[in-house]
Amino acid sequence: MSKRNIVITGGAGFIGSHVVRLFVNKYPEYNIINLDKLTYAGNLANLKDIEDKPNYKFVKMDICDFDAFYKLMQDEQIDGIIHLAAESHVDRSIKDPFTFARTNVMGTLSLLQAAKLYWESLPEKYEGKRFYHISTDEVYGALQMTHPEGIEPPFTTKASSGKHHLAYGEQFFTEDLKYMPHSPYSASKASSDHFVRAFHDTYGLPTIVTNCSNNYGPYQFPEKLIPLFINNIRNRKPLPVYGKGENVRDWLYVVIMLVPLTLSSMRV
Ligand SMILES: NC(=O)c1ccc[n+]([C@@H]2O[C@H](COP(=O)([O-])OP(=O)(O)OC[C@H]3O[C@@H](n4cnc5c(N)ncnc54)[C@H](O)[C@@H]3O)[C@@H](O)[C@H]2O)c1
Repeated sequence: MSKRNIVITGGAGFIGSHVVRLFVNKYPEYNIINLDKLTYAGNLANLKDIEDKPNYKFVKMDICDFDAFYKLMQDEQIDGIIHLAAESHVDRSIKDPFTFARTNVMGTLSLLQAAKLYWESLPEKYEGKRFYHISTDEVYGALQMTHPEGIEPPFTTKASSGKHHLAYGEQFFTEDLKYMPHSPYSASKASSDHFVRAFHDTYGLPTIVTNCSNNYGPYQFPEKLIPLFINNIRNRKPLPVYGKGENVRDWLYVVIMLVPLTLSSMRV
């Protein structure tokens, strides 16, 4: 396999740390650079087990710092960017939307422009290059709970245990749906998706956008729903649910080898 130099942004966060670990262990011939600003959500202790691996390097950087990122692209001859860095907590976006617009929109734009300029300067240009943008299904808005009693097969989901779980609506998010973000968080992610698509359509930048559902698993910051509920249950505290508990969400389990297993469609 050919050698690659890959930047993973947000690699000290919840999902990013699993992605970094996966790449460092699975592709010893690749150079993996974990680029993270280390906000409250970033924790390098998540990566203690791989920090001394020869193909791993950590760089503390803000994705909004265009000049620093452009220099990193040149110095490290970056072929691929896996972009997970973001402000990711909906409640925080309601209190402080500017930080979300700055990091999620301007930060993504800064990475796109640096990638474009550097890759276009190379003789092979975009050949063998990739910008992978990790987004969220929240850009599509909300799913309706049409069946509060639960729907029988084929609308069940199968957990890793093999057990079937009922779903509560027959609607699913697909890539064909209209964008309809409702929170400053999802609005900022939707905007970043549009910039990624625009760079693909305007300049031919080789991009991929994925819009996955909610995630949970080891190393998740405890303010997110499932760890928060587990901690509150253990400490006999109330469980805070928005609205009437009629929102329907899908959940992916993120494990060390990043095998996403659909647990269930859960009402929250
Ligand atoms: N967690 C989920 O349920 C979920 C679902 C769908 C999509 N996503 C997306 O996946 C990605 C990762 O989510 P997560 O839950 O691991 O997030 P997280 O909040 O746990 O981690 C985000 C990481 O980004 C870093 N970061 C924040 N601002 C930065 C900046 N300006 N420059 C550099 N680094 C910065 C943080 O320090 C942190 O390490 C995000 O883009 C998020 O929108 C998450």
